[in-house]
Order: sequence, then structure tokens, then C-alpha cells
Amino acid sequence: MNTYAFQLGREQKISIAEITAFFLHENIKVISQKHINQFLIVETKKPLDANKLISRLGGTIKIGTKLECPDSIVRAIVDSLDEDKTGKVHFSISGTNAKRVALNVKNQLKERGRSVRYIEANNTATIIHNHLIKRRSDFTIINKNVFMTVGVQNIESFSVRDYDRPGSDNVSGMLPPKLARIMVNLSLATPEQIILDPFCGSGTVLTEALDLGFKNIIGSDNSGKAIDDSKKNIEWISQNYQISDINYQTLLSDATQLSKKIKLNSIDVIISEPYMGKPLRGNERLDTLQMQTAELGQLYVSAFQEFYKVLKKGGMVVFIIPQFRHHDGWVKTDCVEKIKKAGFLLESFGEDESLLYWRKKQYVGRGIYRFRKK
Ligand SMILES: C[S@@+](CC[C@H](N)C(=O)[O-])C[C@H]1O[C@@H](n2cnc3c(N)ncnc32)[C@H](O)[C@@H]1O
Repeated sequence: MNTYAFQLGREQKISIAEITAFFLHENIKVISQKHINQFLIVETKKPLDANKLISRLGGTIKIGTKLECPDSIVRAIVDSLDEDKTGKVHFSISGTNAKRVALNVKNQLKERGRSVRYIEANNTATIIHNHLIKRRSDFTIINKNVFMTVGVQNIESFSVRDYDRPGSDNVSGMLPPKLARIMVNLSLATPEQIILDPFCGSGTVLTEALDLGFKNIIGSDNSGKAIDDSKKNIEWISQNYQISDINYQTLLSDATQLSKKIKLNSIDVIISEPYMGKPLRGNERLDTLQMQTAELGQLYVSAFQEFYKVLKKGGMVVFIIPQFRHHDGWVKTDCVEKIKKAGFLLESFGEDESLLYWRKKQYVGRGIYRFRKK
């Protein structure tokens, strides 16, 4: 049996849905899974490839593998750190009673004649900079179990893609690359399939898909600037990340007219964060928000009628439907039933019909939905 702890991102339900989708996609057999605080503890029949997992997932911060603790947590960590007898030991511990355990570990290692440095690794950057994965010396205690870190998310690479790409749009806004990556994983697409983003903006979904190994991508948008930005960003990522053999297309098109430009029944997967209305100040009246959601609902339903035409049978759509904050509640965009009537099945995430991505104080919440063409 192999047991792993996945440290989940801020939106834990979304992170869990992504991990679940990834296991399904990779045909990984899970024996059990349990959600404890910000961790998902997973037991698998076969060992996992942690490097592959951490490089693919957008919503997992860290992955650890369980250490056997026949005596005590302290003893298990000391034995593990003392396995490699050479040089100074650099280690870090987080989780339940971390500081107390770390002190005991330090003392016991000193008693064994080792020179020791404890590093307070409160973030993944510290783990990376101190090479604690290669040194097998970052540990997380979750209740009575201890996990040795085998992979951490490369946060710097996400921020390079977020801030250093040439094409950006501060007016329409950009999807955080992590969320775009999660959406690609939730789509269960396979690498040879054709992915379309019909509201591509500056192309975040497309560039994350390329980084995940997809080669056939199409971006369309009704703004010329968005198309230019997408092209620039696709070229930029393919050069900077040395991605070759890509087959991409960008099209100036309204999402409600897609079938005029795209061959019918030709697309495998649609992944998109659509137009979400005018930027809000937060003091909008209820009727203003209701008018906005009604207009957006109509746009989305019309777009889905076109998605139906261009998608292959069984094709998946991962789509953001926004909802807007009003006092302590939400004004929702009511279009799911109409999308179903346009020929789609709602593919839920376990018990949840949708997943909410929202930062406190933001006026817009992004509901992530998954539909399949009947
Ligand atoms: C929220 S932005 C998408 C941002 C994109 N996810 C990114 O990360 O860059 C919405 C995009 O939809 C485009 N748009 C608005 N109405 C549209 C329509 N009817 N058809 C196609 N694109 C539309 C806008 O030009 C804008 O680029």
C-alpha cells in the first residue's frame, strides 16, 4: 500500500476535483481517500509518480509520501534523515506540533554526532531554494502520521506565465494560470484531442494546455486585440518552454457564430472563461446585477447552441458561469437548465454540480461547470 498527502490549494474542493479527474484520466486506482484539514490523504495500489503529478496539477501545493512510524514520529524522522550519513543535515517540519517535534529531532541527530540546521519552511519557495526535496528532508505531520515531501508546486513558473507573458489585458482580465490548468485537467482531455477556447482573451487556457502537452488548440474571440495577445502568448510559451510541433489556430469570431468558422462536429473539448460582464465597483443595485446576469445567461445559451454544432458527440465543455456578490449573498446567472435543453448533460464533480472559485472581497465568483454533449 502507498499513502500520500496532497496539500490542497486555497479552493480545496476544486483541488480535490482536479486530483480525482487526474486519477481517472491516468487510470490510477485509489483504495481510499480522506480529506483532513488542507490535505487529501490518498492510498493507492501502485506507487505514484510525484514529479509528474506535481508538474501537471494546478491546485496541489505539495505531495508527501507516508513514512512508517513503528516507534514514534520523532524516531521515524531521525532515522530517515540519518540514512544518508554524509554532511550537515538541513531539514524542515510543518504540521501538528511541528516545532516541538523539530527540536526533538535536532537533539537526537546531534546525539548521533550529526551537525544539523533546522529551516522554517513556511512556503514552497523555501523548500525549493534549500533543495529539501532532493535532500528528502521536508516533513509534514498530519495528526499521528508523518509524510516526507516528494514534490512541490513550482510557484515561480506560474508567476512567470502570469506576469511575464507579452500579451495581457487588464480590462477584460485574465484567468489565473493555475485555474486555467485546473480547468484543462477537469476536462479529462487526452493529448491528441482538439481543444477550443471560444472566449480566449489573451489565451491562458491555451498556453496552459500547451504546457500540459496538448498540441492541437484553437482560440477564438470577438476582439482583434485578444487574438493578437493570444498569438503572442502562444509564440512566447512555445519558444520559452521549447514546445515544438504545435498545431494552433486563432480565429476572430463571435462565440454565437462559431459554426460559420469552425467545422461541424470537429472539436473534442471546449474550455473557457467567457465574457463576464462589465467590471463592477461593488455598489451596484440588485436590479443592475440581475439585468447583467440575464444578458450573460442569454449570451452563454446562444454560445452553447453553437458549441453543440462544432463539438463531437460526447464532447466535454468546462465553462465558467459567473455569479455576483450582493451584500452577503449571490446573484446567479441562471442558464444551466437552458444549456441542458440545448443538448448537454451536466457532469457533476462528485456531489457538487459546480465548484466555486472566489476570493473574499471579490465581486465576482467563478462557478466552474462541466457539460457533455449528448
Ligand atoms: C474574461 S475574458 C477571457 C479571458 C481569458 N480567459 C484569459 O485568461 O485571457 C472574456 C473574453 O471574451 C471576449 N468576448 C466578449 N464577448 C464575446 C463574444 N460574444 N464572442 C466571443 N468573444 C467574446 C472578450 O473580448 C474577452 O477577450
